[in-house]
Formats: sequence, structure tokens, C-alpha cells
Amino acid sequence: MTETVKIGNVSIDRTAVLAPMAGVADRAYRLICKDFGASYCVSEMVSAKGICYSDRKTAQLCTITQPERPMGIQLFGSEPEFMAEAVGIVLEYKPDIIDINMGCPVQKVIKTGAGSALMRDVGLAYKVTESAVKSAGEVPVTVKIRSGWDGENKNAVEVARAVESAGASGVTVHGRTRDMLYSGKADRGVIEEVKNAVKIPVIGNGDVTGAESCVEMYEETGCDLVMIGRGSYGNPFIFGEISAKIKGVDYRKPTVEEKMEVMLRHIKLILDLSEKPENLAMHEARKYASWYMNGFYGCAKFRGECYKLTSFEDARRLAEEFVDLQRSIV
Ligand SMILES: Cc1cc2nc3c(=O)[nH]c(=O)nc-3n(C[C@H](O)[C@H](O)[C@H](O)COP(=O)(O)O)c2cc1C
Repeated sequence: MTETVKIGNVSIDRTAVLAPMAGVADRAYRLICKDFGASYCVSEMVSAKGICYSDRKTAQLCTITQPERPMGIQLFGSEPEFMAEAVGIVLEYKPDIIDINMGCPVQKVIKTGAGSALMRDVGLAYKVTESAVKSAGEVPVTVKIRSGWDGENKNAVEVARAVESAGASGVTVHGRTRDMLYSGKADRGVIEEVKNAVKIPVIGNGDVTGAESCVEMYEETGCDLVMIGRGSYGNPFIFGEISAKIKGVDYRKPTVEEKMEVMLRHIKLILDLSEKPENLAMHEARKYASWYMNGFYGCAKFRGECYKLTSFEDARRLAEEFVDLQRSIV
């Protein structure tokens, strides 16, 4: 039986979880990844203040469907009062977990003191967490951090201890500093240090791209769960591969035909979930479609073709051509 990890009262299989990714891990993406075995997922980040002032995008970002569970809603904000109020509002969507973003490196977010800027003000990070925890009641609150602000200020351990003492039920550590953005290599040493410093579950994150690197992340850091972001681009299969490895069952990599089938299923989901007409919703589907072609012969040209797709029928034809091309070269 697969081991589970408890975050508050929520049990999560100790395989791999899907990272929150604004502009990428929307409902269609989460559903596909869950279907392939992601054991937990998180919403795209939502502004706590935005939620308090207007509900325009709240329902769209915070609604949780049954197959997505267990699922967290991620909030970003730097004002404890707004955080408390926002938590109260999103509780209506019955999140399994509330996650606070303290890792976002984007200027628009950090200039408001939120995201990774909170790692530079540990006292405020404590207060924001404490107010979320109080408002969340029984629902566990987790915090997602980076290794620090920059190479001179790697204070993940200090921040993790602070949010633990403020009542957080778990902490995710992305092993990069804020100034690295998404470049360089994630530092697993910091994740191990955090694991050794706190009692709450630690989720290790950064650069996991397959079953092997996932197992390495577990073994090298001792983390309780592993979170995958970009490694799932065009590759929701990664969650099945990891589950199989951890459960010790055989795994066969998907064929190009199977990849194209899943690509089409993903596009169909995007179209079904979108309120836009097909040709406009296809614009949203294009990047996801192109990712499924990565690594194959002729993918550069076909990825370009993906950015011209205007209908599901177009996508189906392109998938067929792509499969034919792969068959022609073996
Ligand atoms: C396009 C994109 C959007 C992201 N959006 C969020 C977000 O909304 N909240 C968050 O905590 N992290 C966000 N992240 C960071 C990821 O959750 C993750 O920490 C990071 O990509 C490192 O993991 P990886 O190497 O597995 O991709 C985002 C990353 C990417 C690439």
C-alpha cells in the first residue's frame, strides 16, 4: 500500500503532487494530472486583497470539482487582515487546504510585499500565516516558500520555523532563491535543512522531471512529499511513472499515439470548460498542445503549427500528421 502523508486532517499519497502554476495549471490541467496520478493539486494563485474587493474572478479560480480533490486554494497577500478575510471568503469553496504564496518572484506581486518579499520580513510572514490559520478553523494552512531572497539571504529554515510556530500544517520549499527566478539548479540541501528543522510535513520542489529525480528528491532531502511543476508540461504521464516506481509496479512509457490522444483529450477539456467560442478557446489550448510534441522528431515545426490551431478538428488532423511523421522515421 502506498504511504500517505497527513497535512492537518488531509491524507495525501506519498507519490507526487502538482505545483500551483498561474497561467498553466488551470482546471483542465489539474484534471488531466490528477487523472494520471497526481495525489494533490493547488489552484493558481489568487490575490487575497482582490478577493476582498471584488468577486469577479474568485469563483472561476476557486471552484473545486470532486476529481481535483484533495486540492488547495493558494492565496497571496501581505496584509494579515485581508488574508483573514480572504480565507473566510474562499472557505465557501471548501478547499481541502489553504496555501499561502511566499515564493512568487514577480515584481507586480513583490512590490506589494507579498510572495517572496515576505521572506524578507519574517515577522510579517508569521502574522500573515497566523491570521490565515485563525480564519481557516479546521482547514489546514500551508505555506510555499523559496530557499531565500538571494544567495546571501537563504533563510528558508528561519521562515519555515516561523510559519510552523504560527500554526502552519505544512511547508513547501522550492530550492531556488528569489533572484534566481526559474534559472540555475534547485538546491536540495536547503530542503533537507528545512526538513530537519520543523516537525510539520515538508514538500520538496524544484527540477523534478521524472521518477528518478523524484526518488532522489525523497532520498536526498527526507521530504514528505514531492511537488512537480514544469516537469509536467506536456507530460502528465510523469505522475503515473512516479506512482509506478514508488509502488514497485511495471511502467511503460506512452507511445506517440497515446501522447497525441491525451493531447486531444486535454484540448477537448479546455474547450468544454471555456466559456469562449471554439476558435478563441483554441488560443488558450495552443501552448499545451505544443508541449505534448516536445522531444520528438520534427517537433519544432509541429510546435509552430500548434500556434496556428483554430479548431479541435485542426488539432486532430495535426495529431494524425505528427503520428504519421514519427512512424515514417522508424
Ligand atoms: C508558469 C509558472 C507559474 C507559476 N505560478 C505559481 C503560482 O501561482 N504559485 C506558486 O506558488 N508558484 C508558482 N510557480 C512556481 C512553481 O509552483 C514551482 O515552485 C516552480 O516552477 C519550481 O518547480 P519545477 O522545477 O518543478 O517547475 C509557477 C511556476 C511557473 C513555471
